[in-house]
Amino acid sequence: MSIPLHQLRAGVIGTGFIGPVHIEALKRLGVQVTAICGSTRSATACAQQWGIPEVYGDYDYRALYRSPNVDVVHITSPNKVHVEQSLAALAAGKHVVCEKPLGMTAQETRKVVAATQRAGAPVFAVNYMCRFFPAVLQMRALVQRGDLGQIIHVQGHFFQDWLLQATDYNWRLLASEGGKLRAVGDIGTHWIDAVTFILGAKTEAVFAHLETFHKTRFRPRGQVQTFAKVDPKTMQPYKVDTEDFGSVLLKFGKAEHGFVNGTHANASISQVAAGWKCSLALGIYGTKGSVSWDLQQPNEILVGRRDEPNQILQRATAGFSEDVVGFTDYPGGHPEGFPDSHKMHYRAVYEHIASGRKTPALFATAADGHHEVKLCEAILRSSRTKRWVRA
Ligand SMILES: NC(=O)c1ccc[n+]([C@@H]2O[C@H](COP(=O)([O-])OP(=O)(O)OC[C@H]3O[C@@H](n4cnc5c(N)ncnc54)[C@H](O)[C@@H]3O)[C@@H](O)[C@H]2O)c1
Repeated sequence: MSIPLHQLRAGVIGTGFIGPVHIEALKRLGVQVTAICGSTRSATACAQQWGIPEVYGDYDYRALYRSPNVDVVHITSPNKVHVEQSLAALAAGKHVVCEKPLGMTAQETRKVVAATQRAGAPVFAVNYMCRFFPAVLQMRALVQRGDLGQIIHVQGHFFQDWLLQATDYNWRLLASEGGKLRAVGDIGTHWIDAVTFILGAKTEAVFAHLETFHKTRFRPRGQVQTFAKVDPKTMQPYKVDTEDFGSVLLKFGKAEHGFVNGTHANASISQVAAGWKCSLALGIYGTKGSVSWDLQQPNEILVGRRDEPNQILQRATAGFSEDVVGFTDYPGGHPEGFPDSHKMHYRAVYEHIASGRKTPALFATAADGHHEVKLCEAILRSSRTKRWVRA
């Protein structure tokens, strides 16, 4: 379905790394971006760069919520304010796209779920946009149609290297700012959400081992934007209370389609894996075949068969089926990647709003975001107690 989206108006909170990714994707969809909120200086600069008419400085998101010119709010601020800003947006009657993780604790994210379940509540999505890579949608179709048979196990990783050195700094390193789980909470939940979406089944139990390689790191004075470089000579030491990497085993429950029941998965998550920039890789192994994919080569999936030749299927060619139509805009050989996954996600959310909720809600809901936060707490408990923990 293709629904014009230019009548919907967005307000974006946060002007750091990911805020402008949202703005660019919305502009490519033809959505009007009418308001921006952040520090007075950065919000003003962002408004000038992108031609955004309403500017709300001093992080005054409540003023943005009072604007009659905003239908959908995009929350791209740091984790610790997601719940407060989400609850206020819902109370103001705004639809929400909230960045992941939905919040810092399951106790607080539960409140967002309750607010979205009230009669007449606006649409709420959590930005687990990896669901909207055509490759992920195609893998989901292969699993849920039974093309791979009964799913036996899943493996993979999410590796980055931007926090490899003790002098690399970001607010995510502090549990008080980003949450008690860092590598797993920040990027591991993308992996878990994508696998959950592909399998169509929820994680029932986890077993985890988490490690902090840099027990002491060095930080600059003041705030630093994600991926920004700072002179190490100006830094001071601090004790690290979040993990650099971890191994997680997951046991999935039963899926309605019948091809997943008790499937076992193992994932390695690291933000200190030299050479890996943003590699979310996964392999799904069934009784009839397997499929594997890496976000760093997002346009292809490898289908493996034991008694036939393996195949490389390419986005927007005969290998990708009707299941992904509407989630890809360019012909085969014209790569689509990270920014396009955001665009496809927001298209799905905005079409859902514009159609009066008639299109399928493939996006992650508040309940899905809450489940991820609950899983993070179970993973932390498992790592501390060295036991399987029910999710
Ligand atoms: N979905 C993805 O792929 C993805 C990628 C990166 C980040 N994220 C998420 O996006 C969020 C922001 O991450 P980032 O990397 O852009 O961080 P960042 O530090 O680069 O940017 C955060 C922005 O929020 C602003 N801010 C700080 N406090 C605020 C407040 N109280 N109200 C409003 N704005 C405030 C900061 O000034 C800054 O502009 C995080 O929750 C992160 O997990 C998601």
